[in-house]
Amino acid sequence: MLAVVNSSNAAAPIELREVPEPQPAPNEALVEVRAFSLNRGELRLLQVRPEGWRPGQDISGVVLRAAADGNGPRAGERVVALTDNAGWAERAAVPTHRMAVLPDNVLIEEAAALPVAGLTALRTLRHRAPLLGKRVLITGAAGGVGHLATQIAARSGARVTAVVGGPERVRHLRGVDEIVEGVDKVQGNFALILESAGGPSLIAAIAHIEAKGTIVVFGNSSGEPTPFSFRDLAEHPNARIQGFSYFTSEAEERFAPDLALLVSLVADGSLKPHLVEHSWRVLAQIGPQLRDRQIRGKAVFDID
Ligand SMILES: NC(=O)c1ccc[n+]([C@@H]2O[C@H](COP(=O)([O-])OP(=O)(O)OC[C@H]3O[C@@H](n4cnc5c(N)ncnc54)[C@H](OP(=O)(O)O)[C@@H]3O)[C@@H](O)[C@H]2O)c1
Repeated sequence: MLAVVNSSNAAAPIELREVPEPQPAPNEALVEVRAFSLNRGELRLLQVRPEGWRPGQDISGVVLRAAADGNGPRAGERVVALTDNAGWAERAAVPTHRMAVLPDNVLIEEAAALPVAGLTALRTLRHRAPLLGKRVLITGAAGGVGHLATQIAARSGARVTAVVGGPERVRHLRGVDEIVEGVDKVQGNFALILESAGGPSLIAAIAHIEAKGTIVVFGNSSGEPTPFSFRDLAEHPNARIQGFSYFTSEAEERFAPDLALLVSLVADGSLKPHLVEHSWRVLAQIGPQLRDRQIRGKAVFDID
């Protein structure tokens, strides 16, 4: 079968190659992958992993063979799944506790946008639940995680302020009360801040957190460091700066229910991933666009 493989060729750091078929463990279903999405964090992995490594976490497709242990989706069911790697391939072996069945009205491509970005959005927002009536600030709101987090926060009753890089970055945003171009324009304090840009953005987050509020720090897209001291927090008594990993923040067995929750939100119309769709054959060209902040929402690839 064909799969995306890391290559040592600097001009083409990934390529489609013939690889052996997956051999599912007893708790794994064999999935025919129809679509997948690319995450900013994976751009870095592609740079640091060796020749021959096989990337790919977010996939959706159709179960070809159910898990031998009898658990999980049946053959023929459409699913979304989170794999550790090796998901960007014609077929993938996936543990059944990392997948959810798609309702009929959820597109395979929409579902592919959900695992890493959707789980991150959902789970970061849980740090200040219930959100009803609370002010929530989301940096990087135009991106993959951000545009899903704004919608889930709004659905939960939060009053959402979205930080974006410019006017061209806002057309796909839904459910926000306020859009600000640049973190320096933010006004007032927030009960919860989702912060992923780092550098001056995290400094601004500290300046705008309520007493006892929570800043969930889940990324450093700018690559910039953030010098701060206790004095910066002194005017925000007992505010918390919370580290976050979507992968370990909740128990392993929570993946399937959380993926099911995300697809149910898509099915009922309260969550709409914004997709930039391409064939997987142009993946290498789209990576730089994501790196350079030219993608709004999620880059999704069809396996054609
Ligand atoms: N900890 C975890 O478990 C976890 C999970 C998923 C993602 N992440 C991290 O969370 C961040 C967001 O992920 P994503 O997949 O949503 O990425 P993305 O789609 O590339 O979105 C990132 C957004 O950040 C904004 N941004 C602000 N300053 C930036 C800068 N200097 N460089 C690049 N982007 C900047 C960009 O929007 P504007 O151009 O509109 O400002 C962009 O839309 C990334 O850092 C990623 O590595 C962490």
